[in-house]
Amino acid sequence: MTVSKPFLHFQGPLNHGTAFESQSLPNPSKSQPNAPATHPFIIAVCNHKGGVAKTTTCLSLGACLAEMGFSVLMIDLDPQAHLTLSLGLNPETLHRTGSDAFLANNSLISVSRETDILGLDIVPASPQLALVDKIMYGRDAYEYHLKRRLNALDANLYDYVLIDCAPAFGTLTLNALTAAELLIIPVQCEYYAAKSLRSILNLTKLIRRKTNADLNYQIVMTMYDRRNRICRIIRDQMESSISHLLFNTVIEVDTKLRESPAYAQPITRYAPETRGAQQYRALAKELLHFGK
Ligand SMILES: Nc1ncnc2c1ncn2[C@@H]1O[C@H](COP(=O)(O)OP(=O)(O)OP(=O)(O)O)[C@@H](O)[C@H]1O
Ligand SMILES: [Mg+2]
Repeated sequence: MTVSKPFLHFQGPLNHGTAFESQSLPNPSKSQPNAPATHPFIIAVCNHKGGVAKTTTCLSLGACLAEMGFSVLMIDLDPQAHLTLSLGLNPETLHRTGSDAFLANNSLISVSRETDILGLDIVPASPQLALVDKIMYGRDAYEYHLKRRLNALDANLYDYVLIDCAPAFGTLTLNALTAAELLIIPVQCEYYAAKSLRSILNLTKLIRRKTNADLNYQIVMTMYDRRNRICRIIRDQMESSISHLLFNTVIEVDTKLRESPAYAQPITRYAPETRGAQQYRALAKELLHFGK
């Protein structure tokens, strides 16, 4: 049986303006890239679909921005603690983690720590975050907890805050999306991408209505395999239907990106000259245009 061109869901409502285009990102200013005018610029990396490179994107962008001379705080909001692990920290034995900022009202600074990368700090996660997600729910104005903590940061301390979300729409993800100015949605170049994209864009609309009217979003295609026909078709269709929502940079499959967490290093240090490192550098440069 010959397989004709697959039907992809991008051809549905995603194409038709009103559903997702309204209030999408104002065109990023094409002026000189520089640090955002308001400090810090807060970015959530989120998609409820698992394994689409949220953590990889968060860590790689953080490292690239630090390499460019910016000071960056990454917040690991995923109970799986992959971001924390990918920097060689053991979530089980850490004394201070993000959970304390949620449950014990500690400041973000008091639970943050420096990494081996100059300019890159992290608020690590612990498995306890899963509990936090449940406990927070129902507390007064729980959606704004992280935003309040971020507002309390010294405005000159960080240029960027990058929040790595769990593959779930829980209380913590809601906190991240309420606090963020920009949502980066990594979408893996594969067939089911469209379905997950639709629900995260619906969630974004809801967040804009309820807790964060200013939330902007942009999609980055990840794990693109140029040798794979379906990958190429998905990329073409996304570019022809929702190009205004896409970063220009596409992150391709790169084994070094898969290896680097095992060596507790971001790609900029583990394999600085590889395609993965270069593409994340290009993405970080694009990001500079989004600071207000
Ligand atoms: N461009 C890439 N090329 C090859 N492998 C990649 C690439 N990006 C990510 N990976 C690998 O894919 C897997 C999933 O990536 P990652 O953990 O970043 O996804 P995630 O969306 O954070 O997952 P989760 O939903 O579980 O939090 C990891 O093993 C990672 O090393
Ligand atoms: Mg992850």
